[in-house]
Amino acid sequence: MSNLTTKHLLGIKDLQKEDIELIFRTADNFKEVINRPIKKVPSLRDVTIANLFFENSTRTRLSFELAERRLSADVINFAASSSSVSKGETLIDTVNNILAMKVDIIVMRHPNPGAAVFLAKHVDASIVNAGDGAHEHPTQALLDAYSIREKFGKVDGLKVAIVGDILHSRVALSNIFCLQKLGAEVMVCGPETLLPKHVASLGVKVEKDLRKALEWCDVANMLRIQLERQDIRYFPSIREYVMRYGLNKSLLDSLDKKITIMHPGPINRGVEITSDVADSDQAIILDQVENGVATRMAVLYLLAGRVE
Ligand code: CP
Repeated sequence: MSNLTTKHLLGIKDLQKEDIELIFRTADNFKEVINRPIKKVPSLRDVTIANLFFENSTRTRLSFELAERRLSADVINFAASSSSVSKGETLIDTVNNILAMKVDIIVMRHPNPGAAVFLAKHVDASIVNAGDGAHEHPTQALLDAYSIREKFGKVDGLKVAIVGDILHSRVALSNIFCLQKLGAEVMVCGPETLLPKHVASLGVKVEKDLRKALEWCDVANMLRIQLERQDIRYFPSIREYVMRYGLNKSLLDSLDKKITIMHPGPINRGVEITSDVADSDQAIILDQVENGVATRMAVLYLLAGRVE
């Protein structure tokens, strides 16, 4: 297989295992490139990419832009807050105006689940979903699984616990799809109110006790409480959440084995994990960020229709 089976990257759900493996093999090459003194290649010299961010982002926005520039693409950036969206322009009109300027690929983050799928149906460009509400965040799942593969040499057969606010998390859903396609076992752990009612139907184990989840897993992916997506209170207080679901060093050190700690960022230090856990040698959080550039380079390169 030398190219993706899809024109867009809307969600991991649409990818085949072979697509993911191709992205990883391509990312291996780009990881080598970005660690050279000259970190740039001419692969996308004739490609123009627009980054449309209708919601805040640090890692994803900067990582995509860096990936695009490392591939020598022409890049334009769009932030909804400073655009004509605030004057009432629709999403399709906005994007068609951008495409009229001869843009080839749209990278979009949007607060509404399904926004990337909607756009792909209505405009003539490759769409990359950079996170759509509580639906999917496919490049985050790719960089997470790539980082697990890098650490363990494989993903197949590993046990991964995703801990925290599963209900509001696009990272959780994309990670579940991606890890399962690659043969990992997945568990979700959190308070009952932050676990979707039918989450077990996705084929994941469900655990409400953090210690049991940590004792089971090889890797714990600690998610942030998504307060910006919570319209009601899902637990009595942050203090109580920290007591039951916060990962601290004494809990980590009390386990029988050394598990690997991941976090997609942004971290709320002292809530889902303490600083000494986030900064410990068991955490691969900054490796995830580094791998984000290589995996996004791979996705953009392959979507631009280039063979490996
Ligand atoms: N992990 C992630 O999506 O972070 P940002 O919201 O900063 O892009």
